[in-house]
Amino acid sequence: MSEIKAKGEKRLVLVSGRAHPQLALDIAEELGSELVPTDARTFANGEIYARFDESVRGSDAFVIQSHTAPINEWLMEQLIMVDALKRASAKRITVVAPFYPYARQDKKGRGREPISARLVADLFQAAGADRIMSVDLHAAQIQGFFDGPVDHLFAMPVLLEHVKEKLDSATLTVVSPDMGRVRVADIWSDKLGAPLAIIHKRRDPLVPNQVSVHEIVGAVEGRVCLLVDDLIDTGRTIVKAAEALKAAGALSVVVAATHAVFSYPAVELLQSGAISSVVVTDTLPIPEDKRFPSLTVLPIAPLLAQAIHAVFEDASVTSMFDGAA
Ligand code: R5P
Repeated sequence: MSEIKAKGEKRLVLVSGRAHPQLALDIAEELGSELVPTDARTFANGEIYARFDESVRGSDAFVIQSHTAPINEWLMEQLIMVDALKRASAKRITVVAPFYPYARQDKKGRGREPISARLVADLFQAAGADRIMSVDLHAAQIQGFFDGPVDHLFAMPVLLEHVKEKLDSATLTVVSPDMGRVRVADIWSDKLGAPLAIIHKRRDPLVPNQVSVHEIVGAVEGRVCLLVDDLIDTGRTIVKAAEALKAAGALSVVVAATHAVFSYPAVELLQSGAISSVVVTDTLPIPEDKRFPSLTVLPIAPLLAQAIHAVFEDASVTSMFDGAA
């Protein structure tokens, strides 16, 4: 008879969807572990199939997926993988979704709208997820959409280290590109000992991805402005903000954001002149054709690996962030 595992002994299982395999490999390497080989494919009619090539019975399983375009495919794939783990008797299943899908649809702005971020949480739950791990949720209250533990990680320590290395805090002003980011920008301002400015952004609710008017609250003239945001999608928010800052006399504008969605025309806009440099993390894959000379991409795998390790060991995740919540 083969060796019987000591009672209570846990087994870490890492599996990955197909959206961002490099991130999953990096996480596994950080953990000194390996990904469980997985047969994931898409049939001719678009249906997805996934099967793990080894037993996952009794394991503490982490399903890593990066919700880049085509986002619905990758979401469905992750749900299918969670379902497969549940039916293969994994003991605990954690969805690792560094960029939470549909996070921006977190409330009803107008009548007859969905709250899709809640629907996503329900889907994860229905598939069999016991917990969720994500980085820089668009709105912290998304944690409450899932009826279970949500490990909300912050990329700030990663981005902050880079900013501190490259920029002189004495000349910096931290800028929130809209009202939704003020709390996070305020923490940045504390950490850097730099003043805070806020941009009042307006969107036309009837035109997606268009940003209209900007008013700046705070002194930015003659300052190096650090715009901090959770995500850059088309780039319009951040570029309009940068242009407004330059028009108000900012010396230069640098951008730090967690999630590089980089939908068209972000790559062009980010190089249009108002912005000196951009730093992001690799929560989402950034192909070569979306990289440009003033872009720095920092690895998020060490942070995710540290959190996975903590969850696996039943250790504190909160203590990783020194109050940056
Ligand atoms: C807005 O609330 C978000 O934090 C981002 O600023 C926004 O969604 C980015 O979108 P885009 O780059 O398309 O303006």
